[in-house]
Amino acid sequence: MNQTPDFDGLAGVYRWMEYFSFGPWLALTRRTFLKDATACRRALVIGDGDGRFTARLLRQNPDIRVDAVDASAAMLESLLRHARGGADRVTVHQADARSWTPPQEDSPYDLVATHFFLDCLTQAEIETLAKRLRKYVAPDAIWIVSEFAIPANGFARILAKPLISFLYLCFGVLTGLQVRKLPNHRRSLDKAGFSRSRVRRRLAGILVAEVWSVTFGKRSEGRT
Ligand SMILES: C[S@@+](CC[C@H](N)C(=O)[O-])C[C@H]1O[C@@H](n2cnc3c(N)ncnc32)[C@H](O)[C@@H]1O
Repeated sequence: MNQTPDFDGLAGVYRWMEYFSFGPWLALTRRTFLKDATACRRALVIGDGDGRFTARLLRQNPDIRVDAVDASAAMLESLLRHARGGADRVTVHQADARSWTPPQEDSPYDLVATHFFLDCLTQAEIETLAKRLRKYVAPDAIWIVSEFAIPANGFARILAKPLISFLYLCFGVLTGLQVRKLPNHRRSLDKAGFSRSRVRRRLAGILVAEVWSVTFGKRSEGRT
């Protein structure tokens, strides 16, 4: 397993780095399918960084409880600050998501959210994580994903390749992230028993928002 990246130093400036590089597009992508989670009551949010998605989720769903997992203590502090009055409905877990196991609770998660997090993992790590989480989600759970993508063709493809390589280089230097290549998270989630039900592309396909559901008929093995 690669070393865990350290995003602590970026927690205070992350939002500004994002606005400076992508303007409002990442925020818009994260919010694309937020309304699909209106009925959700128990969420697992992994790698939410400074917690702007979690804050909106808490405001939209006044009864939801959130487990927030992140390797960075500074990011989790920031997440709790952004949660404001909803912070008492958030349990933070400072852990490497690749080896973290959800707490044993009666109610399974009906929402998983990962925004620009799966690209910090390798394809095999995403598959292992998704297979583990599959045992902790309800049959009607949804998994909301935001990710970068390399469009299939056109000018956007020519632009996306060096842009994404540059982002990996920057995060490698700033956080020690060792992943250098965009994983095919779709293949990993599919193999783990999830099916993509909705997709919305932005910025000519360089950003993608997706909703995944539990694949009907595929049974998960028991919890470990
Ligand atoms: C690129 S940032 C994305 C932040 C935010 N979700 C967004 O949409 O911009 C990745 C986040 O995932 C966390 N992270 C990266 N690798 C991790 C791992 N293996 N386990 C847990 N958290 C991790 C980082 O600390 C950081 O908060």
